[in-house]
Amino acid sequence: MSNNIDRNISAITVTNLNKTVVTQEGELTILNGINIEVKQGDSIAILGPSGSGKSTLLGLLAALDTPSSGEIVLDGVALSGLNEEQKAALRKKKVSFIFQSFMLVDTLTALENVMLPAELSGVKDAKQKAQSMLERVGLSHRLNHLPKQLSGGEQQRVAIARAFICEPKVLFADEPTGNLDSVNGDKIADMLFALNQESDTTLVLVTHDLHLAKRCGRQLVMENGHLSEPNVVNLSSQQHSEFTAEVN
Ligand SMILES: Nc1ncnc2c1ncn2[C@@H]1O[C@H](COP(=O)(O)OP(=O)(O)OP(=O)(O)O)[C@@H](O)[C@H]1O
Ligand SMILES: [Mg+2]
Repeated sequence: MSNNIDRNISAITVTNLNKTVVTQEGELTILNGINIEVKQGDSIAILGPSGSGKSTLLGLLAALDTPSSGEIVLDGVALSGLNEEQKAALRKKKVSFIFQSFMLVDTLTALENVMLPAELSGVKDAKQKAQSMLERVGLSHRLNHLPKQLSGGEQQRVAIARAFICEPKVLFADEPTGNLDSVNGDKIADMLFALNQESDTTLVLVTHDLHLAKRCGRQLVMENGHLSEPNVVNLSSQQHSEFTAEVN
């Protein structure tokens, strides 16, 4: 609980992070010299135009991908020293991820999708917990639907319920409100910040929604693989519209 949290402890430290991939057109630098420090219990928004490298960065921070160079320390553990199995164990213990493309299991119902991480972690009453999470995201009437029988926004809410069920230490969310109307978007944002405050979960959100970004403690902006921390309140109207532009 909050009393036990030392807010000076680093949840994530990133040093000189680079990501380069080889494409048919040659080498492509996606991330270029990223440095960040995120303290435990912080909430961080990452804004920036489509294609600037936000999802790539989130995947690296969550130990889902491997950088070309540089170091990430997640809750005191240097990711470069871990093999794939150790990274998977670290993710299971400390991290939840809300993917931009949801990544629900097609053959499992909404309820089973949300139960899955809880069952894998040996949580008691996984079914009841999953039901109550789905209720919190407004889906108690869709428990037995498969992902393909749900709308995009409903799938997103299932993914959010699944990410919350194990009360992660760090929650990474890639456009968590991207497919939601403003009422559901506000409800999900309220849940994210409740988790941040009640359980001291560190939040790292990618968003095009400046209103959501401004609810976070800090706002970072990605542009062409470079990360900066401008004062978003003072962005020019041109920058404002770039950062909040809809994807696609
Ligand atoms: N494995 C890969 N191979 C080649 N190019 C890649 C690869 N992964 C990402 N890219 C490219 O890197 C750039 C950054 O991608 P990324 O998905 O991180 O962008 P983003 O900022 O999340 O964009 P959006 O807001 O549209 O989701 C894009 O131009 C993408 O095409
Ligand atoms: Mg993205």
